[in-house]
Amino acid sequence: MRDQDEAQEKRTSRRAFLRAGLATGGAVLGGGALAAPQAAGNPKNQPPHVADWSRTLGDGVAVRAYGKPSKHEANVIRRDVQWLTAARESSVSFTPIHELDGIITPNGVCFERHHAGIAEIAPADYRLIVHGLVDKPLVFTLDDLKRMPRVNRAYFCECAANSGMEWRGAQLNGAQYTHGMVHCVMYTGVPLRVLLQEAGLKPNAKWLLLEGGDAAAMTRSLPLQKALDDALVAYRMNGEMLYPENGYPARIVLPGWEANMWVKWLRRIEVGDQPWHQREETSKYTDLLENGKARRFTYVMDAKSVITGPSPQAPLNHKSGFTVLSGLAWSGRGKIARVDVSLDGGRNWRTARLDGPVWDKALTRFYYEFDWDGRELLLQSRAMDESGYVQPTKNALRKIRGVNSIYHNNGIQTWHVHKSGEVENVEVS
Ligand code: MTE
Ligand code: CO
Repeated sequence: MRDQDEAQEKRTSRRAFLRAGLATGGAVLGGGALAAPQAAGNPKNQPPHVADWSRTLGDGVAVRAYGKPSKHEANVIRRDVQWLTAARESSVSFTPIHELDGIITPNGVCFERHHAGIAEIAPADYRLIVHGLVDKPLVFTLDDLKRMPRVNRAYFCECAANSGMEWRGAQLNGAQYTHGMVHCVMYTGVPLRVLLQEAGLKPNAKWLLLEGGDAAAMTRSLPLQKALDDALVAYRMNGEMLYPENGYPARIVLPGWEANMWVKWLRRIEVGDQPWHQREETSKYTDLLENGKARRFTYVMDAKSVITGPSPQAPLNHKSGFTVLSGLAWSGRGKIARVDVSLDGGRNWRTARLDGPVWDKALTRFYYEFDWDGRELLLQSRAMDESGYVQPTKNALRKIRGVNSIYHNNGIQTWHVHKSGEVENVEVS
């Protein structure tokens, strides 16, 4: 029944799209009466006229030695929320996920989170020390790392505090702010396992301490099993060397695990037989429950999704008709198996279309095309991963976790689309 409904809906959408296409076609010929306001532009640059940019020579090669987006895309930037933190050196800026598509985050707009500002490290000065319960302590230079076996993998990196401001109710108006502490880039690096094999592990080795070279000297304990499984010491993102804000020249990549552990400006790895109980795994990055107890070492990021458009910063600027809904889904437990979308606050669900690669522990893009009748909508998306886990509602999450937490909020997000096309962050009960 559901499949039939969907097939029917797809046909309707297709027809609606064709209708819309014809209408626009007619409008252009008839003088643009139906053109959307933002598409109006300057008629002198539009057919049948020869546009300004066709009359003069443009910049030559290498004038733009390092390319930048068009000046018309000045909105596609990281943003911070100033009241969230006292100082920019210990703060966060969010990925403009509402302005992006596909699954790869461009390097210049990956969210950044630092506890003591960006460490500026000269590559020649960079050293990575591996010591503790090893046969021979080692010091690696950046060139040493680059001469070791190399892999390329795309992974999402999500701060455990992503959506952390939404525990007590809808608060921030924009997918960038509610869900933008996530990015997904193609890392190039050395499997951490290779470095550890080089140093030789003592039989009682069970945990690693990862330490950053920034002024915060960020330190986290890592179970050896993860280090031997899929952890990387990465020095490139999307082909380029890591950007300073993301840990230049080297950081740890822990696929599917909370980003706080992805130590940037990595300077030291100590091998031990038990966890160190550092600040970032006791006072912070633990999840306080209703009964006053706190969950600790909650490493994995559970399946989550968000509709990036329409969303508060990406409203609808047509009044009805063919509409493309787009969003992101991810899971720290593997691949995304399915994403469902609701237009009515979770009463009815339809299966979204996954498009582009569906990679293990990477962002996955979904779309849902529909014919908008111009009425109000309550948009939701619900991710399922290959382990069978289903993204919970915010209320289901609160029943178990209470509202004291900051971290690991993967509840279903609701966007209220008004008739005007404006979109608002809301909750449905
Ligand atoms: N590593 C160091 N050395 N110092 C830091 O402040 N912040 C952590 C982690 N690694 C941090 C760090 C946190 S809380 C997050 S969410 C991620 O880095 C953010 O990575 P990004 O800045 O590349 O997005
Ligand atoms: Co973080």
